[in-house]
Amino acid sequence: MPFIFTEQNKKKFAEILACYPNKKAALLPILWLVQEQEGVISKEAMEAVAGLLDISPVHVYSVVTFYTMFHQKPVGKYHLQVCRTLSCALVGSENILDHLKQKLRIEEGQTTKDGKFSLCTVECLASCGTGPAMMINEKYHESLNPKKVDEILATLK
Ligand code: FES
Repeated sequence: MPFIFTEQNKKKFAEILACYPNKKAALLPILWLVQEQEGVISKEAMEAVAGLLDISPVHVYSVVTFYTMFHQKPVGKYHLQVCRTLSCALVGSENILDHLKQKLRIEEGQTTKDGKFSLCTVECLASCGTGPAMMINEKYHESLNPKKVDEILATLK
């Protein structure tokens, strides 16, 4: 199905473009806008964005697939992204990941049956001094241990 912005998002699109010196520079916020509208960024949406910004679809695809915050398939209400890079690994990120897998009964890349949690690993979250770190949606959680993870999960309704 072809992608089109809603009337409201057409206005937001124009507002975003006005903030940048050229259309291409607006790619990341425009992709956020697509994801905010659709929940995912489909192939059709990538093609539409490429047309709107006068860039190649393959460039849009390379950006969507590079950044873990962009989703090509639906994720749960809470997207848990555990840092797997060296500083966090040295202070126990693998334990955090194992704990989450056991607790949620899913593997990396999967979503719980109730659609509430999706789990993945990501590269450095730029919080290396306070690892192990993870993001849940747009929020950082640092200096994690299994008990703290349980407390955080208990707050997520
Ligand atoms: S290594 Fe985990 S935040 Fe940088």
